Amino acid sequence: MAKLIGAIGVSHTPTIGYARDRKLAQDPVWAPIFEAFEPLKDWLAEQKPDALVMIYNDHVTSFSFDHYSAFALGVGDQYAVADEGGGPRDLPAVPGHAEFARYLARAVMAQDFDLSLFQHKPLDHGCLSPLCLLTPPEETWPIPIVPLQCGVLQFPAPSAKRCLDLGKALRKAIDAWPEDKRVVIVATGGLSHQVHGERAGFNNTAWDEAFLDMLQNDPDRLAGMTHAEYAKLGGFESAEVIMWLIMRGAMSDKVACHHRTYYLPSMTAIATVRYEDQGQDTSQAERERVRHETTRQLEGVEDLEGTYPFTLEISAKAYRANRFLQSLVDPAARKRFLTDPEAEFEAAGLSDEERDLIRRRDWGGMIRYGFIFFVLEKLGAVLGVPNPQIYASMKGLTLEAFLATRNAQITYSVSRN
Ligand code: FE2
Repeated sequence: MAKLIGAIGVSHTPTIGYARDRKLAQDPVWAPIFEAFEPLKDWLAEQKPDALVMIYNDHVTSFSFDHYSAFALGVGDQYAVADEGGGPRDLPAVPGHAEFARYLARAVMAQDFDLSLFQHKPLDHGCLSPLCLLTPPEETWPIPIVPLQCGVLQFPAPSAKRCLDLGKALRKAIDAWPEDKRVVIVATGGLSHQVHGERAGFNNTAWDEAFLDMLQNDPDRLAGMTHAEYAKLGGFESAEVIMWLIMRGAMSDKVACHHRTYYLPSMTAIATVRYEDQGQDTSQAERERVRHETTRQLEGVEDLEGTYPFTLEISAKAYRANRFLQSLVDPAARKRFLTDPEAEFEAAGLSDEERDLIRRRDWGGMIRYGFIFFVLEKLGAVLGVPNPQIYASMKGLTLEAFLATRNAQITYSVSRN
């Protein structure tokens, strides 16, 4: 059975990555940052957890306002290093613990906490600044992560209470994971700072210290505060410290603090903490309830003949293939595809099997492989194949035989023509 062995809270300013990349550990201005992270690094190296849940916010790098969500869980097996404007930092891609992440997605959503899910999105400094000091990479990173990106930049944003409650759901999910694994949860962000407007440069050390006290001893009081109250006390961008409440919610009521530092070098107060639980684990009955709920929604679906649920595992396997057919909504892309499909297959990195299925217009084979139907109808529209022809093919019927089973003898597609 999985165990949450500890929780860490750290700021995620770009300065941390800056100092690390320029090897400024001996510089007196930067040294306190390295000294603050050192005991956390040593503890993680000693404990060797199987996974880190990394709670962070993206800074309009990989997530945009065309679709902005409250809580986005990364379910991929690898994350690239983001380019934030000056080229990506010289770091290896970060391994994701995909199996754990997909389980967490199911187990948290089973507790009525709907998450958005992402894969193939690069990580920015919100995650990587602290991670590179917590688990310094060499050829690769020593511990796989599960990233949890929080939408705290555009309002409405999740409340502090919602963050605390998400932490509680995460804890139950971790405790209910049947694998014999050890997990650490890491929250990032803050503390006091404001980076925009005439109030830029605002800090409040007294509030930062009070926040750290309350986080440990009275998180419910923090959960009752509004975004405006956080902004007033700590500066507008400091409201991102509500992400620390996710970490705190994952711990029980009583925690022991084994590490706490605070340093204010420039714009943002840099704090680090580490907690271990002193309270109760999730009860056995509750673990079993969560475990059951985690699989209940799709229980029995395997008995439905000719039915292929689009699960996270299928989504990951067929990601490139689905993405390729979705790209045909772009007129230039479909023109290239119709002119030279083999060149497009190559550019998209499709496997031999995926290319063969598309070449042969094997609609049923595509579904069984992991293509979702809604990209098949896009391919149909590009090729002039009506939807009923695709349905007929999947069922092994002629178009006429399939239409005979319908009330109306019509053909149509998602094409405008
Ligand atoms: Fe941030």
